[in-house]
Amino acid sequence: GGIALSANASDSKTSSSSSDALVFDPDAYTKLTKTITDTEGTEHKVVYHFWKAITYVAKPVDATYQSLIVSAPVEIDGKAVDASNAPILFANSVGGYLPASVATATEVGGGGSAMGGGAAPSGAPSASASTSASASAPGANGNTNATGGATSSNQLLALAAGYVVIEPGARGRTLKNSGGEYYGTAPAAIVDLKAAVRYVKSNKGRIPGNVERIVSAGTSAGGALSSLLGASGDSPVYDKYLKEIGAADASDAIFATGAWCPITDLEHADGAYEWNWGANDLSTGKLVDQTVSKALQAQFAEYQAGLKLRGLGGFGPLSARNLDEYMVEQYLQPSAATYLAALSDSARETYLKANTFITWSDGKATFTWADFLTHVGARKKDTPAFDAFDLSAGENNEFGAGTTLARHFTAYGAKNDSTGLSSKRVASDIPAKLDLMNPMHHLVAKVNPNRSKHWWIRLGTKDSDTSLTVAANLAARLDNLGDDVNHLYYWDEGHGANTDPGDFITWIAQVTG
Ligand code: DHB
Repeated sequence: GGIALSANASDSKTSSSSSDALVFDPDAYTKLTKTITDTEGTEHKVVYHFWKAITYVAKPVDATYQSLIVSAPVEIDGKAVDASNAPILFANSVGGYLPASVATATEVGGGGSAMGGGAAPSGAPSASASTSASASAPGANGNTNATGGATSSNQLLALAAGYVVIEPGARGRTLKNSGGEYYGTAPAAIVDLKAAVRYVKSNKGRIPGNVERIVSAGTSAGGALSSLLGASGDSPVYDKYLKEIGAADASDAIFATGAWCPITDLEHADGAYEWNWGANDLSTGKLVDQTVSKALQAQFAEYQAGLKLRGLGGFGPLSARNLDEYMVEQYLQPSAATYLAALSDSARETYLKANTFITWSDGKATFTWADFLTHVGARKKDTPAFDAFDLSAGENNEFGAGTTLARHFTAYGAKNDSTGLSSKRVASDIPAKLDLMNPMHHLVAKVNPNRSKHWWIRLGTKDSDTSLTVAANLAARLDNLGDDVNHLYYWDEGHGANTDPGDFITWIAQVTG
């Protein structure tokens, strides 16, 4: 122990109790047992200490969300384990930028966003039969399928591997107080996750696990927040928000980052979406407004050029003109090849007969971008996918403020507003909020030296919740900065997939070891 917690300077009266409130009590656990099935199908009996919801800030706005749970293994398959210096999996269960709570969690994997995230059904904890806790959430054009707890298998497998698992809740976009004010919109969720990291780090020596080896994980909006947490470690731009809620005085930098289908880079996501899915029909069979789609694609081309990225694998400079070739060569063909190689000969034959656009030879799959797009089929979202003209997207709500439910956050969205707003421009606070929410800001505009340097990024090839390029650009930027990036796409998988959780657990051991 022995880490001093600084009192919140703005409120000396509560300062000593604030400090006390942020001291982790090592003895306040219950002892639980869980049978966890690993990815090979082998069952492991894990005895662990479980700390139920602990409020991680001294001045909570809403402790239902600003709390975390801790799980630390003490015995695995009858053998005592000491997790006091083990890596910490810091797994959020945010989905849809909605509030996520662990307030009532009674075991590991117990968090989740309001629309039905990570709560593991007790008694049936199969880590391998994992991936699909999903439910509908209000989102773009009403058709967003948010997936909060898709990666709860990560938590279970991490525990069975001997790691400490810490699961933070966080405020989300729909929360409204009695005065009608939205208090969980941007940047609340990232501020809360940072406050939770600060709580963990300020309790070094008291809380189980190695606080210098925190590995973040999250899916979709939670993947966006995870990558933002990794990119923005110790950035001073969050300080005033952290002070407001009485965050512990400690670093919020994390060691490594896992992100599944991150719905991020929101202010460029409309253009990226059209670049990727512009020619694909909606599920109704209708093509989206091609004038809007083309205008957004032109914006994306400019953005992509400005990023000045070099592709992985020695591909060279990326542009909107060669990005299709890059996506196919670097990600999609290898993804298909991995998928096909794992099939039995007869299953592969059947698949290839049904998908003649793929040429399979010498363990390699080849196809064109255009054929791939046809293969994926209907796009999930209308245009613009994120800053909807009618303010109906979940992201419009994410950028709500005060008593305003939803706002535009791009110049193009504001200009084309269809709700009768008098102003056709984004509000003056929006640019700073976008920076607070975008990992790319911390990697491009202001390269953050305190970012995490190890990255695990995953995305399904049939996930049209955002453009496939969002994750690829994030990975390319990190790679170009010299970070260690492990990025691949899951063939034919949709939103929220996590088909190699065992590999993630192994990767954690490798990078933290
Ligand atoms: C999520 C999905 C979306 O399509 C989106 O726009 C934001 C978040 C999600 O599943 O978390």
